[in-house]
Amino acid sequence: MNDSQLIELPKIIDPRGNLSFIEEYNQIPFKIERTYWIYDVPGGEMRGGHAFYQMQEFIVALSGSFDVVLDDGESKKIISLNRSYRGVYIPKMVWRSLENFSTNSLALVLSDKAYDANDYIRDYDLYLNLKNKKQ
Ligand code: TYD
Repeated sequence: MNDSQLIELPKIIDPRGNLSFIEEYNQIPFKIERTYWIYDVPGGEMRGGHAFYQMQEFIVALSGSFDVVLDDGESKKIISLNRSYRGVYIPKMVWRSLENFSTNSLALVLSDKAYDANDYIRDYDLYLNLKNKKQ
């Protein structure tokens, strides 16, 4: 399905504590314009449930675990994140949601664009129509 992918980040193992990092155009294929994070998610809640016309994202579970549910209009894929040295790259035009958050989980999201409400596609039927038009 599409170009979404699980990316293994560098992990510098050290008895003082491990370290991982992300550099734009290196571990991820875009320039980082914005960083946000999702935390204090009550049990059973989900975030997302939309696609972007243009924005790309990279999501890491810095703490705890959650599922990234991806849907390209043809098939669905669930990627469970539970390590701080692994993340999911999500290209534009992929329907995605974050679900099944563990207690105290922390989702770090890197984006290639500043926040823009007009870039969101929140209507799933519209999303499917747009995808079908392109094929
Ligand atoms: P939204 O991306 O809609 O959250 P979710 O997809 O998880 O439902 O963001 C919720 C609100 O937060 C949105 O109405 C505007 C605000 N927001 C910003 O101001 N800047 C941001 O970078 C993000 C991601 C959200």
